[in-house]
Amino acid sequence: MQKNFFNFLLILKNKFLSEAHEVVTFNQLSELRQKYCSKEGILFQATEDFKALPSVEKKTIGNELINLKKFISEFFLKKEEEIFLKKLDFPEAIHFDPSLDRDNLLEGSLHPYTTGMSMVSDFFTSIGFEILKSEIVTTEYENFTSLNIPEGHPAREEHDTFWIDEKQLLRTHTSNVQVKAARERVYPFAFVSVGTVYRNEASDASHDFMFLQVEAMYFADDASLASLLYIIKNFLNFYFDRKNLEIRARPGSFPFVEPGLEIDFQCPFCRSGCSVCKQSTWIEVGGAGMVHRFVKEEMGLTKGHKGWAFGFGLTRLVMLKHRINDIRKLHQSLVTIG
Ligand code: DAH
Repeated sequence: MQKNFFNFLLILKNKFLSEAHEVVTFNQLSELRQKYCSKEGILFQATEDFKALPSVEKKTIGNELINLKKFISEFFLKKEEEIFLKKLDFPEAIHFDPSLDRDNLLEGSLHPYTTGMSMVSDFFTSIGFEILKSEIVTTEYENFTSLNIPEGHPAREEHDTFWIDEKQLLRTHTSNVQVKAARERVYPFAFVSVGTVYRNEASDASHDFMFLQVEAMYFADDASLASLLYIIKNFLNFYFDRKNLEIRARPGSFPFVEPGLEIDFQCPFCRSGCSVCKQSTWIEVGGAGMVHRFVKEEMGLTKGHKGWAFGFGLTRLVMLKHRINDIRKLHQSLVTIG
């Protein structure tokens, strides 16, 4: 059985590679994604078959399956960018805006969100995290109740959103992926999800009804506050291209983690206070903590399973890095990102 499953994964990878080789357009890419990664897709089916294996075999084969999924999700990210860049090469693009200076067309660049998201995926895949494709329209259960935010909980008030109907809404945070993704995986697992989130708020220079968040989750026997802080610190140093930016953790209250932390990092632009860090030398980046036992229950895990979660606003980091002082400038002509 074990050998069969190994062979099966190998054949699957080869089949994927030969089909992926043919992909040149966004439509073909989305068909391929549908075929492999959708709810009824081939990978979902493979995961179901995997679940039926005897538990002694699961451990080794589980790694192979995770690697294959990672390989496939990385492929989609890379291919998307490749097709996008090719599209930019189309000669028609030159006629898009007659006021463009043709000689300097090549000076254009990727949107800061595109580069920010690539950096997130580069960092987290390099340490073995899977990149999730997540849904923007979510349920009240995934966005709130499953995260220990039942109806009437004060935390809901901070997350006023846009409702589609009585049960569906636009997600207010990328933490909505936690329970569903954990249920679909076998412990230990690690994933990250990047995308747009929505809050029913008025827009000004630093707020918009939509922004980008990142959620990282790690479940394994060595998950601890130490590994959590270590990863956050390393990510921020990678993102700002530094070696020793410090971080600090303050107690924070988020219903889905215990203990919960608010994370700040050292201002990358000064030593003794500047306008970016409002003279404090620290900048708030997001929330984090060890996954709450109620949430673990929702995930089908037990008290003994250890896991942490970390969520932060990528918009914030992108604005800091590119010195963009008004979020509305960043969001002009942007489409949703899931
Ligand atoms: N989802 C929270 C928010 O949008 C941020 C957050 C806090 C995410 C703590 C986490 C966490 O994963 O552990 O405000």
